[in-house]
Amino acid sequence: MIGIAKDRLIVALDVSTERRARELVDSLRGIVGMFKIGSQLFTEAGPGIVSEIASSGNGVFLDLKFHDIPNTAASAGVAATRLGVSIFNVHASGGREMMRRTADAVSEVATKEGLKRPSIIAVTVLTSSDATMLSEVGIGSEPGTHVRRLSLLAEASGMDGVVASPHEVGIVRETVMSPGFLLVTPGVRPAGASLDDQKRVMTPAQAIRAGADYIVVGRPITSAKDPVESTEQILEEMELGLV
Ligand code: C5P
Repeated sequence: MIGIAKDRLIVALDVSTERRARELVDSLRGIVGMFKIGSQLFTEAGPGIVSEIASSGNGVFLDLKFHDIPNTAASAGVAATRLGVSIFNVHASGGREMMRRTADAVSEVATKEGLKRPSIIAVTVLTSSDATMLSEVGIGSEPGTHVRRLSLLAEASGMDGVVASPHEVGIVRETVMSPGFLLVTPGVRPAGASLDDQKRVMTPAQAIRAGADYIVVGRPITSAKDPVESTEQILEEMELGLV
């Protein structure tokens, strides 16, 4: 387990300008342990913002969900390692060789260049996918069954954990036996907050109790009138799940 609530909360910086991202990082520095940079901010601002946040002592989860031929995914993983991120992710559906080659390349560059080795997390089934969507892309299994299969494949391919919705955390904990396999969980809403477009949510306390190592929260913090106050409320709710 990763320690206190603050180290287990990841704030999703899904904002459209570098300036807004910096303001949020400045006001939340020291209150949360990690920030998530996804395709929106990365495409807008580029890798500079990633290394800037990482080198100022904050953890960065680079959420670019690599899914490519093994050589390209592994090279992207090496680039993420050189940016100093703490976590990055790949799609488990990229397959065993893609995940294995990425994990090996990251370990090798970290050792050779004396860098911190990031944790590599696999995305199983996106929470926006349902059985109909899976069947349209040729997958006949129910989402839960597919999550189980891809979690096992991720574990066997050297991944350090998976992204799991609050409702999948239990399935993954039951399925994967490696101690220390990390579960990173979005779809979390503090009691009474707007759901935005998230459909099946849990509160911070419920997600922690269900077995999440890290919870990812975006809009309840980034759109709040007072992001610091909202973060503190979420941390308090997480503490309830830790007792
Ligand atoms: O604003 P909100 O708290 O809903 O943000 C959740 C973050 O987690 C977003 O960056 C979203 O892309 C990400 N995410 C998710 N569901 C997944 C995987 C990632 O909501 N299954």
